[in-house]
Order: sequence, then C-alpha cells, then structure tokens
Amino acid sequence: MQTVTVSASAPYAVHIGSGLLDNAGELVSAVTKSRRCALVTDSTVGPLYAGRVLASLEQAGFSAVTYAFPAGERSKNLTTYGKILEFFAQNRLTRADFVIALGGGVTGDMAGFAAATYQRGVDYIQAPTTLLAASDSSVGGKTAVDLESGKNLVGAFHQPRLVLCDTDTFRTLPEGALADGMAETVKHALIADRDFLRFLMAEDISARMEEIVRRNVEIKASVVQEDELERGKRKLLNFGHTLGHAIEKCSGYTVTHGRAVSIGMALAARAAERMGVSPAGTLEAVEAACRRFGLPIQCPYAAGELYDAATGDKKRGLGGIDVVVLEELGRAKTLRLDMEGLGRFVEAAAP
Ligand SMILES: NC(=O)c1ccc[n+]([C@@H]2O[C@H](COP(=O)([O-])OP(=O)(O)OC[C@H]3O[C@@H](n4cnc5c(N)ncnc54)[C@H](O)[C@@H]3O)[C@@H](O)[C@H]2O)c1
Ligand SMILES: [Zn+2]
Repeated sequence: MQTVTVSASAPYAVHIGSGLLDNAGELVSAVTKSRRCALVTDSTVGPLYAGRVLASLEQAGFSAVTYAFPAGERSKNLTTYGKILEFFAQNRLTRADFVIALGGGVTGDMAGFAAATYQRGVDYIQAPTTLLAASDSSVGGKTAVDLESGKNLVGAFHQPRLVLCDTDTFRTLPEGALADGMAETVKHALIADRDFLRFLMAEDISARMEEIVRRNVEIKASVVQEDELERGKRKLLNFGHTLGHAIEKCSGYTVTHGRAVSIGMALAARAAERMGVSPAGTLEAVEAACRRFGLPIQCPYAAGELYDAATGDKKRGLGGIDVVVLEELGRAKTLRLDMEGLGRFVEAAAP
C-alpha cells in the first residue's frame, strides 16, 4: 500500500493498493470514532464490491446502511441527491456518523455533495473504483450534481476524511473507462511533470496502476494544497477542459468526460502553438500521448459551435475566460481571454 497525504485545510490520507477494500474497516477506524455509516454506491459497483467493504466494516465493529442508485451520469442530479439525503434521514444518520462513497466519479461527487450538505455537513470517505475517480475526482474536495442547464452546476467544496483506492477494482472496468482515466492522467503529466509523461509513453500502464494513481494524486494534491478553492493555481487542472466541456455539451453528453478532455487538450495545444505561446512540437506530443491510450483527438464540431458552448461555461467570469496552455511539456499557465480572444483561440484550434 502507498499513502499520499493531502495537506488541505484538514489533511487526509490517500491509500492506494491492491486488496484495500478488505481492510476498509481497519483503515476507516483510524479516522473516526463513530461506528455508524451510510455506504453510497451505484447499481453496478454495489453488487461487485459493497459486500467486501461491508464485511470488513462489520468485522471492525461498524454498522452500515447501503444506498445504491442506478449507475451512470444521468443519475447525478437533484432527484437522486434528494433520495440519498432522505435515506440518510430515514436511517437517522447523525453529524457524528459518516458517509462512504464507493464507486466512480459520479458516486463520489454526488455522495460527497450529500455529505457536504446533510445536517450542514458530515464526514465522508472516498472509495474510488474507476481510474478517473482515483486519480482525479476523489481528491480535492469538489462535490457536485448536474442541473438540466449543465454539468456540476450545484455543489460544494468538502474534503474527504480519507481516500481508499483499491486498484484491483480497475480490472472490472467497462471498455473505455480506463482510457477516460488516462485522459486526466495525461493532463496531469502535461501540466506538471515531464518525467511522468515519459514514463507513461514508455511503460506498460496496466502493470503500473498503483504508481500511476500515486503520481496523479501527488500532482493533484500539490495544486489543491496551494489553492483549495480554485482562485488561481488550481485552474491549471482545467487544461483541455474549457473546450472539453464545450464538446461534452455539443454532444449532449454522449462523448465521455475523458474523451472530451483529450480532444480539448489537442485543440488547446494547437491553438497555443499557432499563437506562439507553446513551443513547436507541443501539439505533436499531446496528440501522441492521447493516441497511445486510445483517446480521440479530432473534434467533430465546428469552431462556432464550440465557441457558443464554451461561452455558456460556468467558469466564465465577467472579465473573460481563463484557458490553460502549455508553456512547455510539463509546465502550464492560464491565459485570460476576453470573448473576442476566446473566438480567436477557438479559430486557431481548428485543424
Ligand atoms: N470532483 C472532481 O474534481 C471531478 C473531477 C473529474 C471528474 N469528475 C466527475 O466524475 C464523473 C465521471 O467519473 P467516472 O468516469 O468514474 O464515472 P462513473 O462514476 O459513472 O463510472 C463509470 C461507469 O463505470 C462503472 N464502474 C465504476 N467502477 C467500476 C468498476 N470497478 N468495475 C465495473 N464498473 C465500474 C459505473 O457504474 C459507471 O457505469 C463525472 O460526473 C465528472 O463530472 C469530478
Ligand atoms: Zn476532468
């Protein structure tokens, strides 16, 4: 087992390793005095893994109630969120108790938001079961649900007390889910660590999952520790995301987040290289990394469509929009663009 400590406002450990779910009871005991919890999971992950977590919790003296919602992004809404809260209340969960989110980013975001708001906030533990959740969403304390008007429009910052990542769970991931996680992994390497990029380009990643998650978590933690509430440096984690979100939106959310981010990174790299912000060769390296993990790089939408979708993005402040560009491989910065500037950026991103 490897452990990374996230030094957020309240520090917490991220344990990464094989078979960790069977030690959940012992690991959870280290961070709470309560012996009651609610396990939130989805209809796919629950049958696969909840039994092991519950058995381990029970052995350590915990009593747990379980809520499973239908798997998938479409469940990440106010209705499911409301049902989770009612479930907590019906089972008399108190502020002394805690929540465990067992599943991918959808489960983590939604159970985290329920924990952030139930009785004005109860502790929660993330047990991510996708590479994306392990490497990105379960660390950093962003929780949310989607509205009809857009993704993640309601949420809260609420840091977990503990993150338990059992890398064995990745073995049952559906086709394509690993690639989604690799998009955020490539993003972390591109913005923060050129050596990690070299590692990813050279190694057989399926045999190196523990290290990959660890490095992802270290990079994300180092950014989040400096800027927990995303006022500055944390924005760098949005590399590929301004246009990535626009692509998700244009597709009616049929293009998954990781795939959209992959295309978004390629677009941002092309625009930045053409504008002379990124050195020659950046686009080629970004495209090679995405291709290596089976991720798409071609954008199916015209510049005008992307611009319209991007200007509806919640990250647009009054003064303009921040896009992230690579100063070189392994180093990123934000560019503040007004609406005209964004238009030029999107034009320059087109092949
Ligand atoms: N909070 C953040 O900082 C942050 C960052 C990035 C993404 N996100 C959010 O994360 C979500 C995407 O996360 P995701 O890709 O993990 O989606 P997900 O939770 O929907 O999981 C993808 C699918 O895989 C299934 N699954 C999960 N683990 C499995 C396993 N081990 N074996 C078999 N099937 C498994 C799930 O049931 C689901 O059908 C989005 O809603 C996105 O907005 C949040
Ligand atoms: Zn992302």
